[in-house]
Amino acid sequence: MKVEGRAYRTIWTTEDGRAIEVIDQTVLPHRFSTRRIDNLDAAVDAIKTMVVRGAPLIGATAAYGLALALDAGADDASLERAYRRLLESRPTAVNLRYALDEVRARVSPLPPKQRARAAWARAAELCEEDVTLSRRIGEAGLELIEAVHRRTGRAVNILTHCNAGWLATVDWGTATAPIYMAHDRGLPVHVFVDETRPRNQGASLTAFELGQHGVPHTLVADNAGGHLMQHGKIDLCIVGADRITARGDAANKIGTYLKALAARANKVPFYVAAPYTTIDWTIEDGLKEIEIEERDPREVTHILGRLDDGGLARVLLSPPGTPAANPAFDVTPAELIDGFITDRGVCAANKAALAKLFNR
Ligand code: MRU
Repeated sequence: MKVEGRAYRTIWTTEDGRAIEVIDQTVLPHRFSTRRIDNLDAAVDAIKTMVVRGAPLIGATAAYGLALALDAGADDASLERAYRRLLESRPTAVNLRYALDEVRARVSPLPPKQRARAAWARAAELCEEDVTLSRRIGEAGLELIEAVHRRTGRAVNILTHCNAGWLATVDWGTATAPIYMAHDRGLPVHVFVDETRPRNQGASLTAFELGQHGVPHTLVADNAGGHLMQHGKIDLCIVGADRITARGDAANKIGTYLKALAARANKVPFYVAAPYTTIDWTIEDGLKEIEIEERDPREVTHILGRLDDGGLARVLLSPPGTPAANPAFDVTPAELIDGFITDRGVCAANKAALAKLFNR
């Protein structure tokens, strides 16, 4: 997608072919800067500190991280060590494990000398695949938006949470892919963007990318969603996911569950958009089986913003020393989800429908 009119992806290989470059998402929307990642430590750090974030992009970065590690040493022990370190860099998004497994499966049978090259190639394939998956999600979700527009004859109002936009993937996004497609085809859409405390991925990232692409949107405080739904201001909720269980429970950014509750109470359709790489077929009960990342409490007690002079500053919001908890994700039970928008099409949120769509 575009930034200042120039097409970008979120991750690419450098011209010398020895590193990758990513957009530094920790300073958006105030600064647009990129970061070169040329070794395993830097890849792990970029994922942990959320220079890159969003389930599919975490996977893509980890795939290249493994390739970078193999450049430095490709025997079995080095491969396993790098795999483990990357896998542990963030716990909730299952795309991380998917991407690492894919690269490892490709390189393990090869002699160590051939592994790094094969890993770079597989990581590049995974990035291309992610773009295709997001585009297909867009095509599937577009039909839902078109149906609302046909019924109402006016702009379709969509509420989204966190950033499941192109910045969270390699391109297009998951929740945003149908929105970009609708907008590009001239369908009137308007997006209510949840700010998404504590890290404000909605305010800083979703608002940024929708603005850059010219999609009409309005930023709202996290607590506004229920009120908007009560007053008929939302036609559809579309959010992303970090992990979906075989029976259709979905983990996504903290606060998603509350939006799903409000949507059900107000009969607003609630959709989760995600590629097959986000489905964890090994688990059923999302509440019991999905590990929820606990992040630094300072993400709750402090906030980063831009000063009038253009400098960035982190300021304290609460009394010094206030204890804070920071669960980064929550699980929305399948019963509250009206459907999944996937790369294979739209399906109901239950075990049988998911299994049928994905031939499991
Ligand atoms: O903590 P983050 O910013 O990595 O969380 C991201 C989300 O929760 C996204 O909504 C999710 O990964 C879906 S991204 C296409």
